[in-house]
Amino acid sequence: MTAEAVKVLRAVGERFGRTFELEHLPWSADYYLESGITIPPNGYDMLRQFDAVFIGALGDPRVPDNRHARDILLGTRFELDLYVNYRPVKLLDERLCPLKGRTPADVNFVVFRENTEGLYVGIGGRFKAGTEDEVAIQEEVNTFKGVHRITRHAFEFAKARQLTKVCMADKSNAMTQGHALWQRVFRELSPLYPEIEATHYYIDALAMYMVLDPAQFQVIVTNNLFGDIITDLGATFQGGLGMAASGNLHPGRTSMFEPVHGSAPGFAGTNVANPIGAISSAALMLETLGLEPEAAAIEAAVLQSVRENQVTQDIGGKLGTKESGDYIAAQISAARV
Ligand code: IPM
Ligand code: MN
Repeated sequence: MTAEAVKVLRAVGERFGRTFELEHLPWSADYYLESGITIPPNGYDMLRQFDAVFIGALGDPRVPDNRHARDILLGTRFELDLYVNYRPVKLLDERLCPLKGRTPADVNFVVFRENTEGLYVGIGGRFKAGTEDEVAIQEEVNTFKGVHRITRHAFEFAKARQLTKVCMADKSNAMTQGHALWQRVFRELSPLYPEIEATHYYIDALAMYMVLDPAQFQVIVTNNLFGDIITDLGATFQGGLGMAASGNLHPGRTSMFEPVHGSAPGFAGTNVANPIGAISSAALMLETLGLEPEAAAIEAAVLQSVRENQVTQDIGGKLGTKESGDYIAAQISAARV
């Protein structure tokens, strides 16, 4: 999938007369298994030198504890302080949506997932591990700074795009300490955006309303774990995990772009996986770098491939991964979009 995204980037560069200088870093399960290195000691500093980072899916059964994924993906999110996980949920064609009768007009919102704290900080421990008395504790960290900056980002995004609704989701009815902070911040920030309707759902209700009435959502903001879960749900609305794109952002700094999906190691090398999630993540990357026409060209080419059903099997086409990437790149090169 990553190779197809790179192919499409090159096509869009040529079309718009730009050269993207791409440097390939080998960090992966293979590299880790060969060298014992997940990411080198100066790795995060290396990443900061780039305008943006594009990353393929991680996860490999040969690394059961997923250490390389943790260091490379979660490590980069934390070390580069990429506090915004930007995950658009956009249906391109009615036929891809598993929800009865829903059209692209009904499924078009973005999720902002807090990306640097919550349950992902890895604080906790196990006591008497492996015995019947085992105790496992995993702490959820919510800071004023962390909750405030992601919530503000959601409102600012809505404002910049003239959207009128922001929905915050937490579980403050059960998580009465940590999520009281989400409530406080949301209460304090909403009045600063009088033109935006600020609503709140508990996360369980949000999951239900996403399915029942996705059209009510424009911008959703939530914590790290809940955002992880609901964006897989959101991906299914778009035609499955193969379709969903994401950006890990720190506005104004080096950001990292990746598909929402994992690696599906069983499909490795079989040329069946859908590259659209990766390709659309490259579009998000260009959009974030201020190259809107280039991003729009990629999005239009992806849409065209879906409309023409020149896509992979998971979304009803007959193409392989490579051919799907070829088709999208060709639309861009031939300036058909
Ligand atoms: C994602 C993934 C990661 C996450 C995994 C691989 C740790 O599911 O980017 O959504 O949970 O953040
Ligand atoms: Mn996930």
